[in-house]
Amino acid sequence: MLVFVPPHPLIKHWVSVLRNEQTPCAIFKSAMAELGRFLIYEASRDWLPTITGEIQTPVAVSSVEFIDPRQPIMVVPILRAGLALAENASSILPATKTYHLGLRRDEKTLQPSIYLNNLPDKIAEGTRVLVVDPMLATGGTIVAAIDLLVDRGVTSKQIKVVSAVAAPPALQKLNNKFPGLHVYTGIIDSEVDERGFIVPGLGDAGDRSFA
Ligand code: PRP
Repeated sequence: MLVFVPPHPLIKHWVSVLRNEQTPCAIFKSAMAELGRFLIYEASRDWLPTITGEIQTPVAVSSVEFIDPRQPIMVVPILRAGLALAENASSILPATKTYHLGLRRDEKTLQPSIYLNNLPDKIAEGTRVLVVDPMLATGGTIVAAIDLLVDRGVTSKQIKVVSAVAAPPALQKLNNKFPGLHVYTGIIDSEVDERGFIVPGLGDAGDRSFA
């Protein structure tokens, strides 16, 4: 598995805004969307299918390259917090289809349960899938989400995960189960506490985005 922390000052900036407990809810949500913009841009590098051809400019004929609209990227935000991080996906990527997944982690057991699944029963071979969840803490949620994709015919090599903050337990779990996966994250933090919070982290991303 490959884990990328793109070394860009804008990514560091938006992670810092998110970390600040004084950041109000509306700013937190827009900072998450901005962070998502840059992480999705990085994740899509060398990944988007293109078509080439020729067009007439006002001056001459030119060879051109466009994103192939016949092969949209499948964007899978994990509700709730993933909605904010994925907000700019469809404006950055010219061809996307969004399928929402709702997973809630039990506060005591930390086990995720699925309350919304908009995934199609079968996913076309070769589809590129972007799974978007700001927090990879114990890893239970992201593994459950990827399991649903694998059940529908997707291999881990077709999947990229975008997160704001990732912690070692989640990265370890993903690496053990899906070695072909690529993870793009704003930052890697050192640990997860007994309540399942990433430390230092940024708190409860869902509550801070939508409270
Ligand atoms: C949080 C977070 C992740 C998950 C991470 O969601 O947004 O989805 O927990 O935890 P894990 O790696 O230990 O499974 P939560 O269940 O709080 O839902 P929310 O986004 O609706 O707040």
